[in-house]
Amino acid sequence: MKTLVIYDSVFGNTEKVAQTIAAALGTHAVPVSQVDARQLGSLDLLVVGSPTRGFRPTEGISKLLNGLPKNHLTGVRVAAFDTRIVLETIDSKALRFLVDKGGYAANTIVKALEKKGGQLAASSEGFFVTGEQGPLKGGELERAVEWAGRLMAG
Ligand SMILES: Cc1cc2nc3c(=O)[nH]c(=O)nc-3n(C[C@H](O)[C@H](O)[C@H](O)COP(=O)(O)O)c2cc1C
Repeated sequence: MKTLVIYDSVFGNTEKVAQTIAAALGTHAVPVSQVDARQLGSLDLLVVGSPTRGFRPTEGISKLLNGLPKNHLTGVRVAAFDTRIVLETIDSKALRFLVDKGGYAANTIVKALEKKGGQLAASSEGFFVTGEQGPLKGGELERAVEWAGRLMAG
């Protein structure tokens, strides 16, 4: 099975999750800056991950997905994950409210993947960091392995 994990990461947390998922799937994780978009249409499973920044994926991930030709992912199983901050670690009540209601990167990624013809392999997942720059909350890499298992089963 041809599988690829694509990720973006500013502080390294999403990279760790991506590498963990890739290892569990028996493949490798590639930073978005090194992706050859033409190859994506021939995959069996494509997994895309991004930090949530301003309720969205990074510009690099958005540009890659939005720039794919129409129907490029037809016949490809797809899945998305993001990293996001633990709400309780945000001091400002107003900001906590906004982050809670604003939405997360994985939802946007799923929409973009499906728009290009991809078929969702499993519901998306968010992995938590305990501060803006991390680290990942305890147990998140174990959860990433479990999620990868669901992708294979699905
Ligand atoms: C400018 C900025 C905006 C952010 N916006 C959000 C957000 O909307 N929602 C959220 O849950 N976390 C937000 N965060 C926290 C990021 O999700 C966190 O930095 C990221 O998960 C770390 O992943 P990385 O190490 O791969 O960059 C933001 C962080 C920064 C620096």
